[in-house]
Amino acid sequence: MNPQEMKAELKVLGVLVERRLPTVFGDAATPPLLAASMDYSLMAGGKRLRPVLCLAWAELVGGDATKMLDFACAIECIHTYSLIHDDLPAMDNDDLRRGKPSNHKKFDEATAILAGDGLLTEAFTLASSLDLPPDRVLRAIFHLSTAAGPRGMVGGQVLDMGLTGKSASLPQLREMHAKKTGALIESSCVTGSILGGGSATEEALASEYGRAIGLAFQVTDDILDVVGDEATLGKPVGSDEAQGKSTYPALMGIEKSRLLARESVDQAVSTLAGFAHPRADFLRAVAHYILDRTH
Ligand code: IPE
Ligand code: IPE
Ligand code: MG
Ligand code: MG
Ligand code: MG
Repeated sequence: MNPQEMKAELKVLGVLVERRLPTVFGDAATPPLLAASMDYSLMAGGKRLRPVLCLAWAELVGGDATKMLDFACAIECIHTYSLIHDDLPAMDNDDLRRGKPSNHKKFDEATAILAGDGLLTEAFTLASSLDLPPDRVLRAIFHLSTAAGPRGMVGGQVLDMGLTGKSASLPQLREMHAKKTGALIESSCVTGSILGGGSATEEALASEYGRAIGLAFQVTDDILDVVGDEATLGKPVGSDEAQGKSTYPALMGIEKSRLLARESVDQAVSTLAGFAHPRADFLRAVAHYILDRTH
């Protein structure tokens, strides 16, 4: 599958998620300010990569993506909450996100914190409302909550803050990336496989694929913070260096970082070798796109 075909397919799956997301903003019981703040960040755009990975892995193992759309939306809610909190003055202090003022700039810090809290908790309302076998749903929720929490993304963000202003070793960087970014990307693939009815072997392959592209994704994010274009990225460039963040480019330079991300993508592609389903082709192309992306 060539990059254009992959992008078209990414869009088709992403639109499925985008159409579903507005159901998240809550009913009349949600205070309008909170609903507006959640809506603002959730519908500001974004590649929708994580929910698409969930749907694609579900299809790869023979599942029906339309049955797990709410779960895919839950993943995007968790991701969006992490971005809102990541941009706060106490964390990365970034004023631009998804091409718009960051949530705390558009609203205020208290509202941004609460919009993040709202998205995180709403994710589990959504994830637990699927019409699929309850044992699968429960296992998927367990996986997702573990990946998003202290052993995963939240833990990784704490490592990131702790390494800011310090020079990290390669093992420290690897652990931070695996947790702050890799865990949710991995979980998107694994939960897709669980919900789609995949075997234990398929789940293990989803995990390996997700971990490998997760690392490549954050290394590329760090590279784009150096060489990217603010308008294309929709977020500030040079933010990592300005704050003394520990990144791959800071530790080993751009070229070595690219090489390392490429190795990781190759590893991800190799996990798909045994799949004949057309989605395998798409997931191979997604792995390459993660490296070549400009935003
Ligand atoms: C940005 O994620 C945050 C990281 C984990 C590096 P994305 O690059 O997927 O952001 P959106 O969803 O497209 O805005
Ligand atoms: C973000 O890492 C990780 C999470 C949001 C969990 P970054 O801080 O590098 O992400 P960007 O560059 O602000 O999107
Ligand atoms: Mg950060
Ligand atoms: Mg940041
Ligand atoms: Mg970054």
